Amino acid sequence: MEFLTIPHPAPTPVAKRDEALKNPGFGTLFSDHMVTIDYDEAKGGWHSASVGPREALSLDPSAAVLHYAQEIFEGLKAYKQIDGGVALFRPEANARRFNASADRLAMPHLPEELFLESIRRLVAADRDWFPSVEGGSLYLRPFMIATEAFLGVRPAKQYKFIVIASPAGSYFKGGAKAVSIWISDYTRAAPGGTGAAKCGGNYAASLVPTGQAFAMGHDQVLFLDAVERKWVEELGGMNLFFVFDDGRVVTPKLTGTILPGITRDSLITLLREEGLEVEEGMYSIDQWREDAASGKLVECMACGTAAVVTAVGTVAGPDGEFTIGAGGIGQTTARIREKLVGIQKGAVADTHGWVMKLD
Ligand code: PLP
Ligand code: COI
Repeated sequence: MEFLTIPHPAPTPVAKRDEALKNPGFGTLFSDHMVTIDYDEAKGGWHSASVGPREALSLDPSAAVLHYAQEIFEGLKAYKQIDGGVALFRPEANARRFNASADRLAMPHLPEELFLESIRRLVAADRDWFPSVEGGSLYLRPFMIATEAFLGVRPAKQYKFIVIASPAGSYFKGGAKAVSIWISDYTRAAPGGTGAAKCGGNYAASLVPTGQAFAMGHDQVLFLDAVERKWVEELGGMNLFFVFDDGRVVTPKLTGTILPGITRDSLITLLREEGLEVEEGMYSIDQWREDAASGKLVECMACGTAAVVTAVGTVAGPDGEFTIGAGGIGQTTARIREKLVGIQKGAVADTHGWVMKLD
């Protein structure tokens, strides 16, 4: 597909941009450009791709996304390489997951190559927007919304696919230290629901429990399964791994109610490569408390694109609080984080074909 390039009439002044790039935080600083592609069933599908200035959208007030939340998104990062280049990490996996989410939300597929080309175009347009901080990257947020104007409850026939970019530093305010999580009474996803899809609605439902966790001084919320209220599922925006003293590692299996994280999938491979025995299984909150107390559980890590790999130090809930190991960052967590980050920035050999270099 041809991409129209729309020149930016007033890019951010260089000095202002470079100052902002010294301390980007997460999700509040945005680059100058965006990619948009429209979809119209009546026009044969995807059309009118462009890369141009990042600007406000104009939507009819009855656009389906505003009423029935027909929206999906992805999150991936472009990394500065130690050789000076720029690369993406497993973007094909994001493209595939995007279409899996589209299936669940009755939205059209975006051809994977078009997803990838959109990202390549945006990173090229915003190549001066990489943070100057250690560990910084350009976070990319592709998303699709239903734009058709109607109030009937049915899948829309018109959509917009957009990619924006946000220079990112550490996701957690405390930086790389171990985080504290709150066990929520609320559930995130029920069997048969949309838990495995990356749709905005899942996150809307997580805002109250996340707000409660924050209000009590915790960094993230932990969701248990919706049926028995005992199986550990995931955090508000991260998957979990449990590391035991005998070299065993457990991560909650993909039951359809948790997001199939790309970082999760990568860690399974990297941990197995190190000789650890990784099991995708069911792990209960009571077992977790017991294993932490007995010392069998030595580390717990949370992982995701935004959070990278972060140690979970303490777990709190209505029945009290417990600590994992010494409450800090364990050896496996530190080592696997370094390996993953090393692959992403080109410092460690990419033996799995995960890194897509951009020119
Ligand atoms: N779980 C949830 C609910 C998430 O929002 C994310 C972040 O995208 C993850 C897990 C981790 O997924 P990934 O590693 O693909 O970023
Ligand atoms: C990501 O890690 O990309 C996510 O989408 C998580 C979100 C909570 C920021």
